[in-house]
Amino acid sequence: MLSLPHAQHAAPRSPIRGPALPLGAAVTAIGILLSIASSPVASSSEGAAMPEPVAVRQVPSVEDGATTAADPCADPVVQQAMANGDDAATVAGFGGGAEFRAAVVTGNAPCISLTDPARLWVVVNKALPLTPPDYAPTGLGPVPLQMTTPSGQVRSDVAAAVGRMADAAAAAGVGRIGANNGYRSYGLQVTTYDAHVRSQGQAEADAGSARPGHSEHQTGLALDVVACDAACGGLDGFGGTGQSDWVAAHAWEFGFIVRYEDVGTPVTGYAPEPWHLRYVGVDLAAAYHAGGYHTLEEFFGLPAAPDYAH
Ligand code: DAL
Ligand code: ZN
Repeated sequence: MLSLPHAQHAAPRSPIRGPALPLGAAVTAIGILLSIASSPVASSSEGAAMPEPVAVRQVPSVEDGATTAADPCADPVVQQAMANGDDAATVAGFGGGAEFRAAVVTGNAPCISLTDPARLWVVVNKALPLTPPDYAPTGLGPVPLQMTTPSGQVRSDVAAAVGRMADAAAAAGVGRIGANNGYRSYGLQVTTYDAHVRSQGQAEADAGSARPGHSEHQTGLALDVVACDAACGGLDGFGGTGQSDWVAAHAWEFGFIVRYEDVGTPVTGYAPEPWHLRYVGVDLAAAYHAGGYHTLEEFFGLPAAPDYAH
């Protein structure tokens, strides 16, 4: 079963429930919104550079004695981890997933870009395309599961994690997990999205398939899993299987989030996809799970992005 938000986090702010944002987070979210709204990217092509997330520092209040938190980005451990491309060590350097999230949403993480497609914390949605649009990840490796399409690669760190996840599912007795799609290049996303538009029309296609340059599959951090008995099923058959229930409850333990939950549709603009797993690393996934989040946008205090600008 999906975890429910903790009781103290239950004040509804939207169709999604999650922790109320502190003032600094709201300021940051508004700053990002304004930045996106004022960016030429939002009103022109997907090819222009996206702005860095706005970093709005909390202002200390003399009256209440509040102090500005130390800048985690000034920590040599964080700087070294960033330089090494070691995202897990960077998150750990912030103090863990919850602390990393808090620093981002309060604007106290100026070295963290939520639009860097090589980082575990990248957010890709209808308002935040990949930059560059034809970005291709390095370090791809084979998904160690039975595949039902030729798109059988993900980043090697993701491959290792999903292998561990599938082994744990099998050990738990819920059956075998296979995969449908892993990495999709910009070109393959063109083909995939166009096929959906031709068969379903654009509105339905936009609810189920990202436009080229807007898919998490292009980062190498996402894959679609399927339930396999004697043979593997399809994507639409995944929901309601033992494997699906187990994945919804346990994927976070292996660094994955179910990116498109039913309650997330107003935020993401996508119909539910219980099969689409996005790797964010164990620390961030644990914080996401513990905080009762259901979209990455809410986790990082970003605006909902249900529609494309054009
Ligand atoms: N089906 C998801 C939204 C994608 O195409 O990336
Ligand atoms: Zn997917």
